[in-house]
Amino acid sequence: MTADVPPAPRPSYWVGTSWKMTKSFAEALRFTDHIRQGARPPAEVGMFVLPSFTLIQTVATALAGTGVRVGAQNAHWAPAGAFTGEVSVAMVAEAGAELVEVGHSERRASFGETDETVARKVAAVLGADLTPLVCVGEPASERDFGTAVEFVLRQVKIALSGVAPADLGRVLLAYEPVWAIGVEGTPATPEQVADMHAAIRGGLVERYGDYGWLPPLLYGGSVDRGNAAELLAQGNVDGLFVGRAAWDPDGFLALVDVAAGLAATARP
Ligand code: PGA
Repeated sequence: MTADVPPAPRPSYWVGTSWKMTKSFAEALRFTDHIRQGARPPAEVGMFVLPSFTLIQTVATALAGTGVRVGAQNAHWAPAGAFTGEVSVAMVAEAGAELVEVGHSERRASFGETDETVARKVAAVLGADLTPLVCVGEPASERDFGTAVEFVLRQVKIALSGVAPADLGRVLLAYEPVWAIGVEGTPATPEQVADMHAAIRGGLVERYGDYGWLPPLLYGGSVDRGNAAELLAQGNVDGLFVGRAAWDPDGFLALVDVAAGLAATARP
């Protein structure tokens, strides 16, 4: 199978952060000021920041021209309507979002996100010409039972069920095992990441053929400066999706530097 149009050049690595429900307006501006001063946007690293809805426009304006993309942590699949408290893809796009995160495990666990709602959101995000960042990952119980791969491949399959093969390269996938995320989390080992990323890649190739332009695979879950290089060096790891370690702008830029260094030496 071949793409209808040649794929646009892609960064060697992606490094992005979701701020989750943190940062005031002033804190967000401190972050963006620092990035503006320290920014040496390496073309080989695709950087992104996902603030809360209320900060998207501010952050997008402040980071314009730095090469850092801005996105939302969620959006509703419907274009408009009686969905009190929800925000549409068009609304986040108008605020300056280029990406929309879909299916983070915190949303699945606490806000009723399912594989089916993830699939609807992915289609809506692509329909608006934005980039969906689809999060998948197994809970500890699935790993204990030895069914982690099956669980994650099912999540991926359903999430991408409405995506035309020609659009696959417009999707970012993040493997984030639930047990690795947050203060209670333990980072996955490089071997665990390599194995799961190989399985996801294998599942995609099996389904779509060796398409040549499959979604980049990011890893997330307790990434920090200490483990970033080793995680990125694994096969089929195309980036890092980071929480706490990138909330501080120096932490974010340090991870970008790690990726840029590896891109310069290890990636074609
Ligand atoms: P963490 O969060 O890096 O703070 O573990 C990761 C995530 O939730 O994506």
